[in-house]
Amino acid sequence: MTRLSGITPSGRVQLGNYLGAIQRWASQGTADDLYFVSDLHAMTSTHNPAMLRALTGEQLAVLIAAGIPAESVFVQSDLTRELGALSWVLECTCTFGEAARMIQFKEKAKGQAGVRLSLLTYPVLMAADILLQGADEVPVGADQRQHVELARTLAKRFNATYGEVFTVPRAVLPPAGARVRDLADPARKMSKSTRDSAGVVFVLDEPELVRRKIRRAVTDDARSVEYDPRRPGPANLLEILAACAGDTPERVAGDYGSYGALKEGVAEAVVETLRPIRERAGGLLDDPAELERVRKAGAARATQRGEHRLHSALRLVGTGH
Ligand code: AMP
Ligand code: TRP
Repeated sequence: MTRLSGITPSGRVQLGNYLGAIQRWASQGTADDLYFVSDLHAMTSTHNPAMLRALTGEQLAVLIAAGIPAESVFVQSDLTRELGALSWVLECTCTFGEAARMIQFKEKAKGQAGVRLSLLTYPVLMAADILLQGADEVPVGADQRQHVELARTLAKRFNATYGEVFTVPRAVLPPAGARVRDLADPARKMSKSTRDSAGVVFVLDEPELVRRKIRRAVTDDARSVEYDPRRPGPANLLEILAACAGDTPERVAGDYGSYGALKEGVAEAVVETLRPIRERAGGLLDDPAELERVRKAGAARATQRGEHRLHSALRLVGTGH
């Protein structure tokens, strides 16, 4: 059983990415899984090449530092040839209407001048990521579910039209409540691309900065500390604490008599959860030769695992050898 997922280097890795995705990938993964930095996906709107390269390195280091075996990790653009070719085959399997129907495309394209064509076709590249590797399960957030559905549709259609090549993948959604909200604006989710980072804890932030951001988290004027999902500020803090402590928000609430004490507790838990990752990632980023070695090995393995499906697909559509 292969599980596969990606993280896009459109910003620095934040606590929500860690608690909502990376931590699970590291703890529930098997040796067959693949996790990758989807740098090609970070180019669907205006981007800065030097920043993209730096963020890609940082995310690769964080995935490994978080405990995902280096053998399971790679950078998407190291498979550009395979993915580019398969993407084309899948574009020839997908209709324009199917791509144009994607909610994320409609939302992101709205009111934007000079929308890149890749914003429309990116879910097809995502299908290529998934189908090239024969992934059975794809852990993603709810916003990516429709894209995994498209990959399912394309896999079935290709198999029925040309011959069985692709595994039909299934989206796996995180459990309810696994969504970390912005500390400064708990109405929205914590995101690496939010412009104002006051409410976003980055995985590589210094401990003092983490503490400061958490102390300034928005709460409300209730006196007691109780877990109530209808009170998003305090509920978010309790959910973060519970995720760090491997406990439930209801139970951790009982340990605190005031928001001040709760914030100190959350700050300590987050700092201690992130400390080993920050240290290990820092070590890797300080050793570019080692990071490069891991990256090359990951690329070779992922290419080798996937290329036979690309060759079969090319042959079946009447191209290649
Ligand atoms: P993204 O940051 O959109 O590239 O997402 C990468 C992964 O992190 C996906 O699996 C998301 O569901 C997860 N993720 C991103 N932000 C959050 C958040 N605030 N809370 C929980 N999970 C998140
Ligand atoms: N598009 C996903 C996101 O923005 C990341 C991603 C790229 C991905 N390719 C993937 C996730 C393949 C799962 C499978 O979050």
